[in-house]
Amino acid sequence: MADRRSPIRRSDGALPDSARRDLLRVLGVGAAGASLGGFGLLAACSSDEGSVSTEASSTTLAATTTTRVIPPYDRDKPYWVQGNFLGVTKEETVTDLKVTGTIPKELSGTFVRNGSNSTDETALHWFLGDGMVHGVRLDQGKATWYRNRYIDTPIHRAGKSVLNFGGVPGKENGQSNVALVHHAGKLLATGEVSWPYELSVDDLSTIGAWNFDGRLGDTMTAHPKIDPATGRMHFFGYGILQPGITYYAADPDGKIDVTSTIPFDVPLMVHDFAITESDVVFWIGPVVFGSSPETMYPKVPFHWDPDGPSKVGVMPLDGDASQIRWVDIPPQFVFHGLNAHRDGDDVVLHVHRLEEAFGKRGDLVDSFLTQWRIGTGGSSLTFSDDRVSQIPMDLPAHDRRFTGRETRHGWCATTVPPDSEYGFELAGVCHIDTKTGAEDNWKPDDDTRAGEVVFVPASDGAAEGEGWVMTYVWNRGTGLSSLAVFDAQDLKSGPVGTVELPVRVPFGFHGLWIPEA
Ligand SMILES: [Fe+2]
Repeated sequence: MADRRSPIRRSDGALPDSARRDLLRVLGVGAAGASLGGFGLLAACSSDEGSVSTEASSTTLAATTTTRVIPPYDRDKPYWVQGNFLGVTKEETVTDLKVTGTIPKELSGTFVRNGSNSTDETALHWFLGDGMVHGVRLDQGKATWYRNRYIDTPIHRAGKSVLNFGGVPGKENGQSNVALVHHAGKLLATGEVSWPYELSVDDLSTIGAWNFDGRLGDTMTAHPKIDPATGRMHFFGYGILQPGITYYAADPDGKIDVTSTIPFDVPLMVHDFAITESDVVFWIGPVVFGSSPETMYPKVPFHWDPDGPSKVGVMPLDGDASQIRWVDIPPQFVFHGLNAHRDGDDVVLHVHRLEEAFGKRGDLVDSFLTQWRIGTGGSSLTFSDDRVSQIPMDLPAHDRRFTGRETRHGWCATTVPPDSEYGFELAGVCHIDTKTGAEDNWKPDDDTRAGEVVFVPASDGAAEGEGWVMTYVWNRGTGLSSLAVFDAQDLKSGPVGTVELPVRVPFGFHGLWIPEA
């Protein structure tokens, strides 16, 4: 594989006028919106029913107020307007929750998960709803409250779609519907195509958009990485009208002190990246913003371009974009990496590889955990890969005390394919030992569906992977959800404890555990 420096750099960094006009047309916005920044995955929304409620109902909640009968799966409709993909319409507060089994007393803190909450049956994609967080507070084996709250963005407040609100997303203009990060005392909801929104840890209410005291550009990835050795947060943002990615690093107090831009020739969706103790690793797949006559459905403003770039780039941690080196890789797309580490001259990553995304085979095809090994010792980078599991799964989690370091334990959400009885869904949870390949797969029945897990160590000094994982679980029969806690290395035995919720928690994306201060 060739190794080239900044292979997708162009001299002026901007799209040609014709491409810019086409992109704006596809996005459905006029030129007035062009100055607002980039547009990308997980940005657009169609707020349901103009719902702008900010006051939660309180205390005891009758289950019937939020449950609904789940109609049979309709293959003529998109999966994201059915079953547990469809959003909920109310913000709720429920206290004194029922616990089944045992919630470990050591688990005192708050579990929060973000997701795209669309109740609009004409929504263009699962990714394109208002951000909503769902949280449960645990305290000494009890569950003291559940709250769900919209991310209170201008688009949500206006009850509009991004296509008729404020032009191209960026800055405050986004849904923040993807993930969460807790750094420098701030809980941030992240959404990839805009600034993050700060939330209150106490009640999950929105404090406001956060731009790092003006040091952030228009966008911030949903998946920043915190180096456990330094407390520094590494992240990036990408642009569409100014194609490229800008790498940032912030000190433990949240002050951005590294900013460096890598221009691209074409506007690419870049969802995640990785760090090691000494490297930043970016991967680029050929999901390009703009329309494609071959991509009729879903009608999203990005598509698979078989001629587009697939590359991995490595640069020094806290380094400059001019130091990045790239290697071409076979065409593929990777939304998420599990973790990465340096092994001598090699950088080793575990990622979830898709053969294609947003192409002829559909929006999301099966995703398989794969090891990448990138040799950095020579004048050119080398690349090799090896699939380590045959189970379709994504939404990986690791022990974040070891981010960027070699880890043995990973946890992923399994999926079922579109031809299943209820169509594509998140399914169970699998623990994988990346040293032996051993899989500990919790396979619930067809009426029980989980999602991404979050790992919580048993104690500060616990060994890597020793602790619990937790996730929301939905029951198709009751229409209700629960928070399930598992022994992190014994998933097959099922949850050790469950917090029963009198509400439904729709499928979502990424969560976070915030220990009690
Ligand atoms: Fe993600």
